[in-house]
Amino acid sequence: MTTKIIGTGRCLPENIVTNDDLSKIMDTSDEWIASRTGIRKRHIAKEETTATMSAEAAKKALQQAGLSPEEIDLIIVGTITSDYVTPSTACEVQRMIGAKNAVAFDVNAACSGFMFALNTAHVYLQSGIYKNALIIGAETLSKIMDWSDRSTSVLFGDGAGAAVVTKGETGLLSFTQGSDGAKGMVLACKNRSNNNPLINTSKELEYTYMDGQEVYKFAVSKVPESIKKVLAEANLEPDDIAYFILHQANIRIIQSVAKRLKVSEEKFPISLDHCGNISAGSVPILLDEVNEKGMLKKGDKIVMAGFGAGLTWSACVMEW
Ligand code: COA
Repeated sequence: MTTKIIGTGRCLPENIVTNDDLSKIMDTSDEWIASRTGIRKRHIAKEETTATMSAEAAKKALQQAGLSPEEIDLIIVGTITSDYVTPSTACEVQRMIGAKNAVAFDVNAACSGFMFALNTAHVYLQSGIYKNALIIGAETLSKIMDWSDRSTSVLFGDGAGAAVVTKGETGLLSFTQGSDGAKGMVLACKNRSNNNPLINTSKELEYTYMDGQEVYKFAVSKVPESIKKVLAEANLEPDDIAYFILHQANIRIIQSVAKRLKVSEEKFPISLDHCGNISAGSVPILLDEVNEKGMLKKGDKIVMAGFGAGLTWSACVMEW
């Protein structure tokens, strides 16, 4: 027995911001952003929050799975932009959807957050502790961006994706996950400033910092390496895979991974053109788009992979 996905859902904020919109508030252009990243627009939350988007995505995934909220016994949300320090987004989702029998907690693994949530749920399900889990990747990254920094703020967007997982004869065939805290400062966001009057502190809040080239180098080596690892464990070749659902950071990273795996880029569905990078939200949002389009047939094997701040990374092979 393993862990299978039986429902997916997503929620994106209504407000859409194009590259041209950004060029009106900072020194950038559609040409610069699109040619270096593939991103043309992104959803930026106005009314929506990390928890409300998560709950909407969760309801859709539950409906597709044919399960009631009461049948969920585990909720894990991958996020770095929870609305509150506490309660967790997972506890907020539990309240909003009425999943009163669940235990709920968040994982902080940035762009690998949904994958870490999946792997964690898998281990709980396989041990027999829980039966049905709701896993979510959700972010409101717009609130942790330095909007005066054109090199980071143009890359990211907001949104949430969810999946319901349960035990099944087939599903997750192999997974890997890793982290390298020693390189953590190449993509970082400092927490709120300390206002303890007993010590000298700066009142200045800090926003997301990124060394883009270091992150790029990390991604183009670690992602193919981890995909090759899970393929070998599942005794599969890249050609056996129907689709590679990668974290949506940059089209050039995805093209490089396709090249290194010697696989056609057509097998790499894209959402970054209309969503930007939604960190933990990227993989489940893209999975739901692919699922909604009817691109996944029973027995298809897909690879999912996340990578980003921490540094963290994770990949898996899933039989649909
Ligand atoms: N619009 C216009 N110009 C911009 C710009 C923008 N939005 N952002 C940066 N620039 C400018 C820089 O100021 C710099 O100008 P200069 O040469 O006059 O100093 C120039 O463009 C090149 O900047 P640089 O940062 O060297 O660009 P790059 O070629 O490395 O591309 C990224 C930047 C971010 C697109 C690229 O590094 C990347 O994709 N890295 C991976 C990031 C990522 O995926 N992160 C998330 C992982 S989860």
